[in-house]
Amino acid sequence: MKPSPALSPSAEPAGEPISFFDLRAQHARLRTQIDIRLARVLEHGAFVLGPEVQEFERRMASYTGAPHAVTCANGTDALTIALMADNIGPGDAVFLPSFTFTATAEAVALIGATPVFVDVDARTFLIDGDDLERRIAAVRKAGALKPRALIAVDLFGQPADYDRLNPLCESENLLLIADAAQSFGARYKGRVAGALAPVSTTSFFPSKPLGCYGDGGALFTTDEGRAAVYRSIRGHGTGDAKYEVVRIGLNSRLDSLQAAVLLAKINVVDDDRAARAALAAAYSEGLADLVMTPITLPERESAWAQYTIQVDRRDDVQAALKARGVPTAIYYPRPMHLQPAYGRWSEGPGSLPVSERLSARVLALPMHADMRPEARARIIEAVREVVKG
Ligand SMILES: Cc1ncc(COP(=O)(O)O)c(C=O)c1O
Repeated sequence: MKPSPALSPSAEPAGEPISFFDLRAQHARLRTQIDIRLARVLEHGAFVLGPEVQEFERRMASYTGAPHAVTCANGTDALTIALMADNIGPGDAVFLPSFTFTATAEAVALIGATPVFVDVDARTFLIDGDDLERRIAAVRKAGALKPRALIAVDLFGQPADYDRLNPLCESENLLLIADAAQSFGARYKGRVAGALAPVSTTSFFPSKPLGCYGDGGALFTTDEGRAAVYRSIRGHGTGDAKYEVVRIGLNSRLDSLQAAVLLAKINVVDDDRAARAALAAAYSEGLADLVMTPITLPERESAWAQYTIQVDRRDDVQAALKARGVPTAIYYPRPMHLQPAYGRWSEGPGSLPVSERLSARVLALPMHADMRPEARARIIEAVREVVKG
C-alpha cells in the first residue's frame, strides 16, 4: 500500500530532540543525593548485600505496605525465585497473559513448569478474567497438569484486577504472583503495588518506574516463611549456618551501589509518577478523538511505565513519527504464544485473538517525568497529523 502524504517522511524535525525516555534529566535532578549515597558505599566497601540493601528493603516494605520485601538481582530472577520457593516445576501449570514481556514466561519455562497463555483485555492490556477461568477449567478437565499458580502482569503500569484474581486464586488453590515490574508506585483502591497479592515481584531495570543504574529486582510477600525462603534462594540456597546449603538456589543478590541509587530515587517515585500521569492525561486529551488511547479503570492509579495507543498501519505511523523526530516503541510486536521458543505450549495463531491484534496495533509514545510542555505539544501534533493522513 502506498503511504498517504502524512505517513511519508517530512522535512527535518524542528526543535530540541525528543527522548522516548530521559534518564539523564532525572539524574541531573537527583545528582547530589545519589553522589552522597554512592560515596558512602565506596567508603565502607560492603559492595554486595551491604547496609544500603537492608535499608532499601525496609524502605520498600514501608512504601508498599507489604510486610516483607526481599531484593534480588533482577525482575526475572524475582519471578523465578517466587516459583522455586513454592516448589513449582515439572507437571505444574502456571497461567499468565500472552501479551507481556518475555521474562514473565521465561521464569515459568526455566523452572520446568508449563506456561498456559491467557488472553488480555483490548483496552487495558490486562489479563482477561473470563478467559483465565475458561483455561483453568480446561487444564483441570484435561488432567495432565496440576494448576499451581497465576502470574498477573500489571502491564504498562496499571494494576490487574486483584479484587477478582485474589478470590479466584484462593478458590482454585493457585498461588497468585503479581508481576509488578512495570507498576512500582501504582495504586489499586488506595493500596500500593507490591501489596496487592500474596506474592509480588518487581524490576529495577533503569527504565522502570523505579529504576537503578544496572539490574535489580525484588519480591514482596505477606508471608514471613516465604520471605525467609526467598532470602535463602537468592543466596545459593543457604541455611542458617554459614556454608550450610539447604536447597538449590541462585546467585541473585543486589549490589549496594544499586541500592544506594534506589534509596535516592524512591524519594521521588510519587512525584515522578504524578508527572507521568499528567503527561498521560495530556496525551489522552489531545488524541482520544483520533486514536485508541489506553483506559485506566476506576480506583486505579497507573505508574504509567508506558503510554500505549493503538493505530492501524502501525509500522507506517511509527516511521512517519520517526521522520518528524518523535521516537516510539512497540511493546510487544509478538505475543508470547506466537514466539518460536514457546511454540510447544501454544495453540498457534488465532488462539488468543486479542493479544494477536494488539501486537499488530500498539505503539508506545515517549513517557518520562521530565518531558517539557513544548515537546509534549509537538508529539501530540505529530501524532494527529500522521494519523489524520
Ligand atoms: C512485565 C515484566 N516482567 C518481568 C520483567 C523482568 O525484569 P528484569 O529485566 O529486571 O529481569 C520485566 C522487565 O523488563 C517486565 O517488563
